[in-house]
Amino acid sequence: MSFDLVIRGGTIATAADVFQADIGIRDGTIVQIGDSLGEAAEVIDASNRLVLPGGIDSHVHLAQPSGDGIVMADGFESGTRSALFGGNSCVLPFCLQEKGQSLREALSAYHALAEGNCYTDHSFHLIVSDPTPAVLGQELPALVESGYTSFKVFMTYEGLRLNDAEILATMDTARRTGALVMVHCENEDAIRYLIGRHEAAGEVRPKAHAATRPVAVEREATHRALSLAEITEVPIVIVHVSNGAAMEEIARARARGQKVVGETCPQYLVLTAKDLDGMDWEGAKFVCSPPPRDEAEQEACWRGIEAGVFDLFSSDHCPFRYDDPAGKLNPKGRTSFRHIPNGIPGVETRLPILFSEGVAKGRIDLPRFVALTATNHARTYGLEKKGSIAIGKDADIAIWDPAEKRTIRHADLHDGADYSPYEGIEITGWPKTMIVGGKVMIRDGELVGTKGAGRYVARTRSALATF
Ligand code: URP
Ligand code: ZN
Ligand code: ZN
Ligand code: ZN
Repeated sequence: MSFDLVIRGGTIATAADVFQADIGIRDGTIVQIGDSLGEAAEVIDASNRLVLPGGIDSHVHLAQPSGDGIVMADGFESGTRSALFGGNSCVLPFCLQEKGQSLREALSAYHALAEGNCYTDHSFHLIVSDPTPAVLGQELPALVESGYTSFKVFMTYEGLRLNDAEILATMDTARRTGALVMVHCENEDAIRYLIGRHEAAGEVRPKAHAATRPVAVEREATHRALSLAEITEVPIVIVHVSNGAAMEEIARARARGQKVVGETCPQYLVLTAKDLDGMDWEGAKFVCSPPPRDEAEQEACWRGIEAGVFDLFSSDHCPFRYDDPAGKLNPKGRTSFRHIPNGIPGVETRLPILFSEGVAKGRIDLPRFVALTATNHARTYGLEKKGSIAIGKDADIAIWDPAEKRTIRHADLHDGADYSPYEGIEITGWPKTMIVGGKVMIRDGELVGTKGAGRYVARTRSALATF
């Protein structure tokens, strides 16, 4: 048997196992795993390296508009390049339906932006912001059938939030079509009440963002989302969980037999609300929702990662610039935290942070790392050929130097933002060589692949969907 590419001498990790073997790749697919594989057009020596499934970041925002004329700092080119350098071979950005827009219109706009520009494979979740009878009755079912098998609903954000009746109706469409619903759980009315109180007291700086979105706001909405999912009998993903109380809601729903997946993100492990209290509005660089909490909640999130309440670890990459007049802190943003767009960059640092803080520090083992960063994303979101190193899977592979020491510096990253909220964090372990669909895209830290090599992937239904 001959191969296009053989990866030789590495330590392979999957969600189940760690073992030594060579990997043979042909036509973009893993075709053999074993010893002394035959002839290959190209051989990569992976001795003293870890050979992992390419990361799948199932929660990123690229090229999404964010109101007040503020532009997201990454489109598909810079966003997927940054993802690739961070050890990812596939990302799942959101396609935002604007009010009055059909889902198909929204999708064709996002596809046009992505086409020919991606360094990683990609697929889209839909954001349903206008669940009209036509959208829920006709459009969405047809789109689920053609590979858009998950959609996100928001319980917060003006113009985006759905009320309970709309969430129930959207979940019912998921039930009828076998789709998976992702829910952003924060109680918008409670947030508005707290914003009013803070603004009246003259508290308009970024740290008030965290104070107006306390744990109770998230816990209540999480409980409600889980109840609505129980009533409609659908599996759901609770995205970007920031604290122990919301996590316990998930654990309790699971104990009752509900199908629910919890997701957490790096910001809830290594940032706190104190980061929003920087000098001269610097705290705006850490404004995201839910906000980072405190050390006790960081520990709670770690317990969720270790114990398996969280099955997904995603970045929620949502980048904005500051040095740009239309950036995150344009003049309106300086009048009140309420006008600072929510979101922080992190697609390139997600995997190194979890590897360094989790694997290198002995909190989780390699199979758990692989599950949290690749395998579970593929299973949850219907990426059948991705997320593992196994015969028949796409040859999406990240070769890591587990001993490399680095300090996170935005100057070394590849996104379109102008800062990293993780600046200065010391890291052990970094992805060095990236293979996407059998193509070497990064070799020993050097970009050798071209944009457009990353392809769109239509998805099957979630492994959680009972259809
Ligand atoms: O603050 C955040 N998380 N921004 C991104 C949008 C979202 O809610 O995921
Ligand atoms: Zn969200
Ligand atoms: Zn998000
Ligand atoms: Zn940058």
